[in-house]
Amino acid sequence: LLALVEAIQIQSGYISYVRQAEPLGLGHAVWCAREFVGNEPFAVLLPDEQVLGHKPCLAQMMEAYEQVGGNLLSVFEVPHEQTNKYGILDVAPAAAADARLVGVKGLVEKPDPAVAPSNLSIQGRYILQPEVFQHLAAFEKGAGGEIQLTDAMAKLIGNQPFHGFKFEGKRFDCGDKLGFVLANVAYALDRPDMADKVRAALK
Ligand code: G1P
Repeated sequence: LLALVEAIQIQSGYISYVRQAEPLGLGHAVWCAREFVGNEPFAVLLPDEQVLGHKPCLAQMMEAYEQVGGNLLSVFEVPHEQTNKYGILDVAPAAAADARLVGVKGLVEKPDPAVAPSNLSIQGRYILQPEVFQHLAAFEKGAGGEIQLTDAMAKLIGNQPFHGFKFEGKRFDCGDKLGFVLANVAYALDRPDMADKVRAALK
């Protein structure tokens, strides 16, 4: 299986790159970076999702991580009929004092709305413990025939702290053409040096 992974590593200054040679799933993509990460907690950022707010989403999460440690996923509510587009949380009774934190007792990747345990979805920012690589290494296929990060994370629940984090800010799905345009407009309107010009042009 390792032969499937043609990991090209270019190390330049502070940035390292690994190429996922085949689109085998998000879990596989993260697994490709295992040697860079080593045995430390790490963050995953899916760049097709952007959060516009006063404080970057990951910075908010790092503050919460200081309280609870373990694994932390940024989450937001989606319309119930859209649960089959996301990783969905099975929420545990409140365990933390911080109202932005929710306990997680299960995770399901892209469940049919009829069986989805909630409408709280994983957004593209994660803080994870390196033990997730042990589960990713099994290369188990999940939803859509892909190696899912969600399935590997689910195996950590019960062994390590696991929380969802309701971030502050507006989320944009830039993997969608309309979402990409709306994100650009929102970010431009948020910039004092551009807002007036962009507003006038849009009018
Ligand atoms: C991925 C994850 C999913 C998460 C989503 C957020 O799905 O597998 O759990 O909710 O990102 O955008 P994808 O969008 O790659 O299908």
